[in-house]
Amino acid sequence: MPLTGDVAQPMLLGESDGGGASGFAVLRAPSEILFGPGMRRSVGWLAAREGRRAYVIVDPYLSGQEEFEHVLASLRSEDVEVAICRDVEPELPADLAVTVAADARRHGTELIVAVGGGSCIDLAKVVATLLRHGGSPSDYYGEFGVPGPVVPLIAVPTTAGTGSEATPVAVVADATLGMKVGISSPHLIPRVAVCDPELTITCPPEVTAAAGADALAHCVESLTARQRQGTPELPRDRVFVGRSRLTDTLALQGISALVAGLQVAYRDPTNLSARTETMYASLLGGLAFGTAGTAAAHALQYPIGVLTGTAHGVGVGCLLPYVMAYNQVERLEEMAAIARIFGASGPDGDLAGRAPHLVRDFLSALGIPRTLSAIGVSTENVAWIAEQGVRAVRLSENNPRTLTLAAASAVVAAAVDGDLDAVPAAEDQ
Ligand SMILES: NC(=O)c1ccc[n+]([C@@H]2O[C@H](COP(=O)([O-])OP(=O)(O)OC[C@H]3O[C@@H](n4cnc5c(N)ncnc54)[C@H](O)[C@@H]3O)[C@@H](O)[C@H]2O)c1
Ligand SMILES: [Fe+2]
Repeated sequence: MPLTGDVAQPMLLGESDGGGASGFAVLRAPSEILFGPGMRRSVGWLAAREGRRAYVIVDPYLSGQEEFEHVLASLRSEDVEVAICRDVEPELPADLAVTVAADARRHGTELIVAVGGGSCIDLAKVVATLLRHGGSPSDYYGEFGVPGPVVPLIAVPTTAGTGSEATPVAVVADATLGMKVGISSPHLIPRVAVCDPELTITCPPEVTAAAGADALAHCVESLTARQRQGTPELPRDRVFVGRSRLTDTLALQGISALVAGLQVAYRDPTNLSARTETMYASLLGGLAFGTAGTAAAHALQYPIGVLTGTAHGVGVGCLLPYVMAYNQVERLEEMAAIARIFGASGPDGDLAGRAPHLVRDFLSALGIPRTLSAIGVSTENVAWIAEQGVRAVRLSENNPRTLTLAAASAVVAAAVDGDLDAVPAAEDQ
């Protein structure tokens, strides 16, 4: 394992702002996680425990591949009846989930197997909800809107990025509202996550890069998220409770695994060791942010995604260094820990300032743009993006440094120009 020495660091990190000292920590996760090359062949026996009729939702690209045949063969070898749905679309339209749920109902579905990227797994989460509780996706928008357990879901990711196989959220594009909306509930966490890095070998470099940047943003934003007072009611009242020692540990290991594997996987797609590291990082990032929550980079990406039509991971990856520069003053130790994982050395004060640059250089080597202007965002868009980002309260209020409208505008403006030094460093916003 690369950089296992970093495991010692999170024990110290949380103490600086209270939570480590109180010992409060939370982790929500699938009941079972199977990780490793070849694990796709376990889906059959896992499914047979849940029921006899499986509805398999598969990414259209994967549906023609031999690896998917292995999943089907393992289901059939356990006498599980299979109905296959290939209607996965990148920006999950809310209406699609309704149509697919109706089809799944006609098949007498007892469990769902999702084989695909975040778009596929998110579709499966919404379908599992509609099958059990009826209605339409908008009935469940926001936090804790899902009234009880959903149809069991076995999630088999084929990208290494979203970590959706381990998270309590599905992201839906609502045409009426003209925006992407989250459905967040612990009931949405898949029953089982089966993470087989061999399934990601066919990802083209641009998918590897965007998904990997998303995973890095999940780890960094979890590690630097707001830390809340640990009360018995907090996990009842919030799906995303903020960082704690458990999520810090996962996030740091996730960053290490990405540094070890992501650039190699991008350059050499068939390198299984690199694919294994990146898929591991994606899983850890999902586990970390699924409990801690993400923050400003995710809040600001949503309007940018609407405006430019760029992939989620490209937007969060581009924004991440600028958000880190803004948050640095509140998270010196954590930024220094990140810089060390990227190979830098020196005192915390110096290292923290280098972390955003190291992350930007790392992502830029994967083709993630260094500026928002490179993906079509102009100065005229800054005010609207900042306003929308701040309004995504679930995310923006999880940022360690208060994200005022003026601050959000300054961060986005700096990202448009590619000027990390223009990000406001002191509390003057
Ligand atoms: N639920 C969550 O926790 C969560 C977290 C982050 C992002 N998201 C959402 O996930 C979506 C993005 O998911 P994603 O980044 O996994 O991409 P994706 O699922 O949209 O897939 C991207 C592209 O890669 C292709 N693809 C997938 N697997 C492949 C493989 N193994 N080989 C070749 N091609 C493959 C797909 O066909 C598609 O064209 C966004 O809608 C985002 O909002 C969800
Ligand atoms: Fe994300």
